[in-house]
Amino acid sequence: MARVFAPLMTEKKRIKFYYGGRAGGKSYAFADSLLFLGRQKKLFIACLREIQESIRDSVHKLLCDRISFYSLGDYKIYETRIENTITGTKFIFKGLRDQDSQKIKSLEGVDIAWIEEAQTISKKSWEILEPTIRKDGSEIWISMNREEENDPLWMAVAANPDERTLVRCVNYYDNPFCPEEIKYQAEKCRKNSPDDYAHIWLGAPVVQSNTRLISGIDVRRAFEAKMNGSTSPLIIGLDIARFGDDATSFCFRKGRWCCRIESYYKQDNVGVANLATRFIKECRPYRIFMDIGGQGAGVYDILRDRGFGEIIRGIYFGEKAVNEERYFNRRAEMWDSVNQWLKSQPPVQLPVDEELFNDLTSVNKKYDRKGRLQMEEKDEVKKRLGRSPDKGDALALTFAEPVYDRGEPKLYGNGKVSIEEMFALAAGEKDNSGW
Ligand SMILES: Nc1ncnc2c1ncn2[C@@H]1O[C@H](COP(=O)(O)OP(=O)(O)OP(=O)(O)O)[C@@H](O)[C@H]1O
Ligand SMILES: [Mg+2]
Repeated sequence: MARVFAPLMTEKKRIKFYYGGRAGGKSYAFADSLLFLGRQKKLFIACLREIQESIRDSVHKLLCDRISFYSLGDYKIYETRIENTITGTKFIFKGLRDQDSQKIKSLEGVDIAWIEEAQTISKKSWEILEPTIRKDGSEIWISMNREEENDPLWMAVAANPDERTLVRCVNYYDNPFCPEEIKYQAEKCRKNSPDDYAHIWLGAPVVQSNTRLISGIDVRRAFEAKMNGSTSPLIIGLDIARFGDDATSFCFRKGRWCCRIESYYKQDNVGVANLATRFIKECRPYRIFMDIGGQGAGVYDILRDRGFGEIIRGIYFGEKAVNEERYFNRRAEMWDSVNQWLKSQPPVQLPVDEELFNDLTSVNKKYDRKGRLQMEEKDEVKKRLGRSPDKGDALALTFAEPVYDRGEPKLYGNGKVSIEEMFALAAGEKDNSGW
């Protein structure tokens, strides 16, 4: 079994979420892992899908095939269930759509629930199931080939995974047992139809309509590793949370290389200013572009008061674009810069980050009466994404103004002080302030 599946057997996680394209080895790995675990101790395992008209729709046959492949004589196969005669492990097979609040109670003792073809699971089914799997130490294993960007289970579980959730992407090239014929088909598709390839073989959600500003294919391409350094000046984009649920995101970019993107929750203005101060000291950015439309103004003031006025620049997303003829506002201009950057040659690089992927590919474009590029209202994006595209905004902010390649900055402020002096100055001011 591919190493990527090892956590199925070894890690304690409430949810194990595997997604990817065709022939990644998900179904086989789940089946094998469950059969082996079920031989070690008594487990009650429910194999679930949204619709199961007959047992033939289920993974019953796959489990039987694997039992016979490994000659596991301790498993006894019945028409609608499988049992281990030594440990007492039992597999059952159910369609979630047939369950109501009464019937689902039969699943309360489940140790492991395997949800197969999870892209078809409805929000309602998930809301009924999740609290039902309530036994101490119980786990939910999910295998999915993504269909749309907002597949309900993707949004509920994987888009913003918590610490009890393991999310892994597996594709055919991760599968050591992938048949040659399948590899051939995948490669052929890659050459002839990149959009289909991304969806079918890489597990990307279906190609978005051309109303999306940024194409998922461009983002996936940027996820491929190509470089591990750049001499371009470091620019930080800082998107500051406006409301409780939003994240404050820092994005670090050096020319073609966006090397790091980080989000922080529930930080007040001083907390964000402290993070920015730490990054200035450690990473020595040439500029920090920050959104000062909402809360950001307060953070900006604190940083200026600490002596970083020459490094930070405040940006209003809603302000006039630099190129007013082409863009409705600054935000549209910056996001289009991201779009063009992603398409540029030589290719660029982003850190692999599914949240960033979703942020970048969820935003629709439109045009105002003057034909200028405009972005849809944040509320619309929020509805689709379930949150604000904070990481996308942080990346966009790194494009607020062109920064010319002058290498690593040595002097800050008015061009006369080193960063050490700047910190000393800021500390000195603080000491005096008590008097
Ligand atoms: N442990 C294994 N031993 C032998 N062959 C395997 C194993 N795992 C995967 N394969 C081969 O790889 C193929 C794809 O695996 P699998 O069906 O598990 O992928 P999947 O990720 O569930 O893909 P799909 O989206 O097509 O359902 C299988 O048909 C089988 O030929
Ligand atoms: Mg499968």
